[in-house]
Amino acid sequence: MSGWVAVAGLGPGSAALVTPEVSAALTEATDVVGYAPYVARVPERPGLMLHASDNREELARAAHALALATDGRRVVIVSSGDPGVFAMAAALFEAIETGPATWRDLDIRILPGVTAMLAAAARAGAPLGHDFCAINLSDNLKPWALIERRLRLAAEADFAMAFYNPRSRARPDGFARVLGVLREACGPDRLLLFARAISCPDERLSIVRLGDAAPEMADMRTIVIVGSSATRLIERRGTPILYTPRSSA
Ligand SMILES: C[S@@+](CC[C@H](N)C(=O)[O-])C[C@H]1O[C@@H](n2cnc3c(N)ncnc32)[C@H](O)[C@@H]1O
Repeated sequence: MSGWVAVAGLGPGSAALVTPEVSAALTEATDVVGYAPYVARVPERPGLMLHASDNREELARAAHALALATDGRRVVIVSSGDPGVFAMAAALFEAIETGPATWRDLDIRILPGVTAMLAAAARAGAPLGHDFCAINLSDNLKPWALIERRLRLAAEADFAMAFYNPRSRARPDGFARVLGVLREACGPDRLLLFARAISCPDERLSIVRLGDAAPEMADMRTIVIVGSSATRLIERRGTPILYTPRSSA
């Protein structure tokens, strides 16, 4: 039987947000490869080999998956959320582009998933209802100056913004700088959503004005959505609705 590689998005956490297509690929797989916390989300079964690896080993993980598929194995590389959003799909193609020519002819499928910004936006209302952009705030793979430039230009263009990887133990100061740039560009009244562990049992949401936002409100399990100048709240009993209307003057 010929091998294949599928790069599958497991969604933000809840089993209810795993697509039927991803579940079917996991059922057919002989091997699951991925960052250990994501592999841990895949139910074990006889005949399924689980290969968990450390963070920041994306290229080695991709090469391992491609070698297994070359040997005829049916391999699923798991990502959280969507595999094409700051995740393993691009890493796989980086490995293929520079790897042996035979890898290009393998059966390769990218199976989409529910990315964190969409799951978070849906919980809060519709903050991404008009034009928006997504920025990875980690400076592992790009210089800080580029992050800051993109932030300033996105704010100037009045996009709503979703920030992935906002703050980690290795980068405790970057997010404070981001808040500083935003305050300069957008003023203190801009609305922000901090959405942590969306769809998981410890999910937490808070909506604050930029003037009240603090770096400690974000960690690596948080996605931050910054509204555009049109983003607003609909007050009601309980949690207000955060949304951005579809039209703009
Ligand atoms: C390396 S990126 C991977 C993104 C993933 N591929 C996706 O589409 O959601 C990891 C970042 O995604 C965000 N994230 C992933 N799952 C999340 C969740 N359940 N709740 C909130 N943010 C989440 C956080 O910003 C985290 O730092």
